Amino acid sequence: MNAVTSPEKGHRRDDSCSVPNVVMEAVCSERVAGMNTNVKGIGLVCPYCESHPAVVEDASSLVCPRCGRRYSEWNGKPCFLADDVGTVDSWREGYSKAVSAGSFKKALITLAQKLRAPKVKLRRLPHLDLLEALGKRGAFKALYIGHNQQFEDKLSRDIIQLNVVPLEYVDIVSMGEYVPFPDDSFDLVVMSQVIEHTQYPFKVVEECYRLLKPGGKLYVSTPWVYPFHGGDNYRFSNEGLRFLCYQFDDIKVGSLNGPFHALAVFLAYFVGEGLSFGNRYIRYLVGIVVSWLVFPLVVIDALTNRRRKKTYVLDANIYAIATKKGNEAPM
Ligand SMILES: C[S@@+](CC[C@H](N)C(=O)[O-])C[C@H]1O[C@@H](n2cnc3c(N)ncnc32)[C@H](O)[C@@H]1O
Ligand SMILES: [Zn+2]
Repeated sequence: MNAVTSPEKGHRRDDSCSVPNVVMEAVCSERVAGMNTNVKGIGLVCPYCESHPAVVEDASSLVCPRCGRRYSEWNGKPCFLADDVGTVDSWREGYSKAVSAGSFKKALITLAQKLRAPKVKLRRLPHLDLLEALGKRGAFKALYIGHNQQFEDKLSRDIIQLNVVPLEYVDIVSMGEYVPFPDDSFDLVVMSQVIEHTQYPFKVVEECYRLLKPGGKLYVSTPWVYPFHGGDNYRFSNEGLRFLCYQFDDIKVGSLNGPFHALAVFLAYFVGEGLSFGNRYIRYLVGIVVSWLVFPLVVIDALTNRRRKKTYVLDANIYAIATKKGNEAPM
């Protein structure tokens, strides 16, 4: 694994810089050496520059004339990862393993997922309410960080999905800490179960603040009472989420899943880990059985959690909706 580097300080805009902010439409509306740089109508900028970022065309890649960084594509998607800035090794390894897995293993994983108890959803996730409100208002732009979901056509025109690996439906590869879009570009930024996986969560949220238009909203959800899972670095309490969103106005915190859900997850991990003896195939099997055994707890949680507005000490997952200061009409 690469050595963990600290985030660059003050890498953002220097307003006195005389270099124009070359978010060049000409570049961004074309394919550069097979790379689609028209990321849904928002121009690309260099995410690492200490002054106005500018990305210009080169025969085979995008190059920043300020810092000299060169960006190419990964799996047909513009890729802005820079090894000297942060490491995404565990996600890169996971992605390579998943891509190169044999068809038997892939089929087994799909089957195991299908046989598990279903998720219980008695209410819509809050970020979908925010999207709906935006849709009613007219044209909008939303950025989903650490995401790869198929949205219906109407929505997907206005949603950009960014991830550190080029999964299906991802539009652009970059770290949430360094996002190659200009200031004030988005009405909504969503991070669902991602912030705990990042290296520098405060930096990620500062980046979200920069990217949002005045009046725009950030939705961030994260586990609280939850076992360690792959690539997992941090936990934030409801108070911690408020500190994380320190630049924002009007922060609302809520519960996604409560204590019974937490209990179900812990029981599943205890039994699954304890009885699988490190064998992947037994773990799949045990996982299916246990998911049904704890299912009543998940249902009780969904029923009791439905009307809860405030968070409790043992919530499994919590979220915050924070609004960027500004005069524009709030959602
Ligand atoms: C637990 S998954 C959540 C996926 C999805 N958002 C959801 O709610 O189901 C965490 C995701 O965060 C991505 N990720 C990890 N570190 C990241 C970073 N620094 N910036 C952006 N995304 C990151 C991973 O590739 C992975 O897709
Ligand atoms: Zn640069």
